[in-house]
Amino acid sequence: MVEKQKTELALLLEEQVTARGGISFAKFMQQALYAPELGYYTSARTRIGKQGDFFTSSSVNSCFGKLIARQLIQMWQLLGEGEFVIAEQGAGGGHLCLDILDALANEAPAFYTQLKYRLVEISADNRSRQAETLQHHCSSGKIDWCQLDDLDGMVGCFLSNELVDAFPVHLIEKHGGELREVFVVANDGSFSDELRPPSTVAIKNYFDMVGVEPGTGNRCEVNLDACLWMERVAKLLRRGFVLTVDYGYLAEELFAPYRHAGTLLCYHKHQTNEEPYERVGEQDITAHIDFTALQKVGQLHGLDSLYFGQQYQFLMGLGFLELLMEMERTETDPKKAQALRMNLKTLILPEGGMGESFKVLIQGKGVGVPELLCSKRIRDIGLPRRSF
Ligand SMILES: C[S@@+](CC[C@H](N)C(=O)[O-])C[C@H]1O[C@@H](n2cnc3c(N)ncnc32)[C@H](O)[C@@H]1O
Repeated sequence: MVEKQKTELALLLEEQVTARGGISFAKFMQQALYAPELGYYTSARTRIGKQGDFFTSSSVNSCFGKLIARQLIQMWQLLGEGEFVIAEQGAGGGHLCLDILDALANEAPAFYTQLKYRLVEISADNRSRQAETLQHHCSSGKIDWCQLDDLDGMVGCFLSNELVDAFPVHLIEKHGGELREVFVVANDGSFSDELRPPSTVAIKNYFDMVGVEPGTGNRCEVNLDACLWMERVAKLLRRGFVLTVDYGYLAEELFAPYRHAGTLLCYHKHQTNEEPYERVGEQDITAHIDFTALQKVGQLHGLDSLYFGQQYQFLMGLGFLELLMEMERTETDPKKAQALRMNLKTLILPEGGMGESFKVLIQGKGVGVPELLCSKRIRDIGLPRRSF
């Protein structure tokens, strides 16, 4: 049998895990993704797109950013059309930012003039990718990079796409009525799981807050960092909106009795696997997020939930169909028009696409309960005329 080559990070973690007699899975995942220079997100590598490990909605087509831009215009109007900050955390290669700013510069120049786009990014590799993608808007001083705390008192919209699923999670199981947590131990040169009492009382408090417990014998993930993040964002925002796009469920569905093995998945070259101890630092590790927890923590800190829906509903409400037909109409090459249709279907298709597992949550602070553009119901959307 050929022994697999261990990564430099795996060897380093093996030493740490052995020295400490085991670490929580959350600590292991944190290191696998964000260890300085060796973690999946902190090392120099192509993560997103055809040459990488996974696609994101913004890497599929500029249509995603164009439609979000429409929602941002309405948010700006609701806030009185003054200075407005769009803060995006975890912008990957910067394509969503590019598509939003291009759309706003073309379609809402008055808004473009008033706005400042601020990026918060943990990975130096991604910061340099973003600077390259966004050269044009950077040179006009529209964009800057900052720390979360620099956003204190912001008025505008705090945006993220597939950020929260990249936070480390605690792996939990329930046995004999007791919660148990997965710790990572190292034996004979390989990592394995060991169930121990939870590393923090925050895990029990989490289940009390969302009002659901894992089924006996089931494994599930608890994203405590998502709760801390939500609280921090809520406190930073003086007035405005938080728009979060990610794959996930409400707690009842995420912790449903039929979900025996949880949602933890690893991505490598567009293949998924359930082996987080393989290719340590060279594959993504993610878990679906709990939108109940985000809403509950948000509410506790002054954020009202204004919209929660599936990505396809959100995009349809913002004019997906009209935009698709418009883009098709201006495409003269029939092969390219066909490719465009296939490509855009990914954004809204439930199976094998991003339409249903992806959700959108919009929360607001000091904005009342406005009727948001994205909440237009599908049955109220007229089919655009087709010109033959
Ligand atoms: C899955 S990628 C999403 C990429 C992008 N939003 C898109 O739509 O293509 C996750 C991003 O979040 C960043 N990230 C993860 N944790 C972060 C944190 N605590 N602060 C800032 N960025 C973070 C990663 O470096 C990466 O850019």
